[in-house]
Amino acid sequence: MRNLRRQAVRDHLIRYGGDSFPHLFRSASGTIVVDDTGRAVLDFTSGQMCATIGHNHPAIKEAIRKSADTAMHMFSGMIPEAVADLAIKLAEWVPEPLSKSLMVNTGSESNEAALRIAKLATGGYEVVALGGSWHGTTGASAAASFASDRRGYGPKVPGNHAIPEPNAYRCPIEHCRDHCDMTCMKVGLKMFDMASDGAPAAVIAEPIISAGGVIVPPKGYFTALAEACRSRGMLLIFDEAQTAFGRIGHRFAATQLGVTPDIMTVSKTLGGGLPLAATITSDPIEDVAHQRGFSFYTSHVSDPLPAMAGLAVLQTIERDGLVERAKEMGTYLEQALSGLQQRYEVIGDVRGQGLLLGVELVKDRESREPFHTLGARTTERCFELGLSMNIRRRTERGSVWRIAPPLTVSRAEIDRGVTILDQALRESLDSLAGETS
Ligand SMILES: Cc1ncc(COP(=O)(O)O)c(C=O)c1O
Repeated sequence: MRNLRRQAVRDHLIRYGGDSFPHLFRSASGTIVVDDTGRAVLDFTSGQMCATIGHNHPAIKEAIRKSADTAMHMFSGMIPEAVADLAIKLAEWVPEPLSKSLMVNTGSESNEAALRIAKLATGGYEVVALGGSWHGTTGASAAASFASDRRGYGPKVPGNHAIPEPNAYRCPIEHCRDHCDMTCMKVGLKMFDMASDGAPAAVIAEPIISAGGVIVPPKGYFTALAEACRSRGMLLIFDEAQTAFGRIGHRFAATQLGVTPDIMTVSKTLGGGLPLAATITSDPIEDVAHQRGFSFYTSHVSDPLPAMAGLAVLQTIERDGLVERAKEMGTYLEQALSGLQQRYEVIGDVRGQGLLLGVELVKDRESREPFHTLGARTTERCFELGLSMNIRRRTERGSVWRIAPPLTVSRAEIDRGVTILDQALRESLDSLAGETS
């Protein structure tokens, strides 16, 4: 049966990119996923960065049961009670003046909605995003994403511009080293002003550029970016798909930075594994968008099933103090990774916040040449030894592991993960040295 299923993957599934394992997977619970041979693997990617309270948390299971007993789906014009409850909870969580939410399913959708709102509210259509950004795979979200190759799909939505990302370790304009002085933003905005058709609408940014290599912008970056938006009549959109609800040891990146965007999008970490996302804005912006005919009427907008799961996720984070726990466990994990960095010359940088950490691999610390073969080989060996992690950049812009276990991860699981990583690194370096000698 196992081989039949594996063959079925080759015969009947469209390959959609990214990494996929030769195995199939059977179940998931807490920090563990189990493959089709029954082998347990530590999941340090939290699924696709969604399972922040651990896979199949009892609270989520209970929410799904409750939904099955009441309602899973409704006519999009009928607002389920669960959606009203989630809207109240989100309004409690987000910083003022954000107060109104639209419940959709994916991060891509939440950004589509945010960009539509920004376009209606400003009357413009131009969108600025950061290099290395990932906002989704649908039209407008993909047009504002610069982390991956878009080649082959025709022209992107007109009016989209990229500015260089504030990567202190690997400055895209080769200006700084280890300390970003934000020249990248100044140059980027200058280029945008030159290229603009005079219809600016929004700047969209991940507070930590995650898929682009877990890049943490320098202090003051978003205050300056917010000011740049204001002076141009643009709205600032924070895509907090990965940073919201405790992952970085704060409720949101916005609260940690002290910068409230005009629109915030949340997704992955809200549903805890179910497809749930939200676009959140202030009353005045929502009102203008509504007056101008805002529409985002989809089959699964405001569905009760994911809303119940989202409510359960937020209640669990509150009840179990998971925001504080992410900070504590994140410090513990970061210290362990920094310990590895002291022993391995090939670990050029360890960065991130809370339990969203990046480890950058280089051939040597001076040249910082990305060490892709080591990244690939070690990732593979980690998996064989029982640890799943993923590599976020495989270009000239670096080779970075994103390490992001669920916020419920235990110290023992972190210790086990780091021991596996240590062994995998050592063996991979030995085998690469053997090949070249
Ligand atoms: C920051 C960010 N925004 C948006 C998305 C898109 O979300 P989805 O894949 O749910 O459409 C992702 C997905 O990886 C993401 O990392």
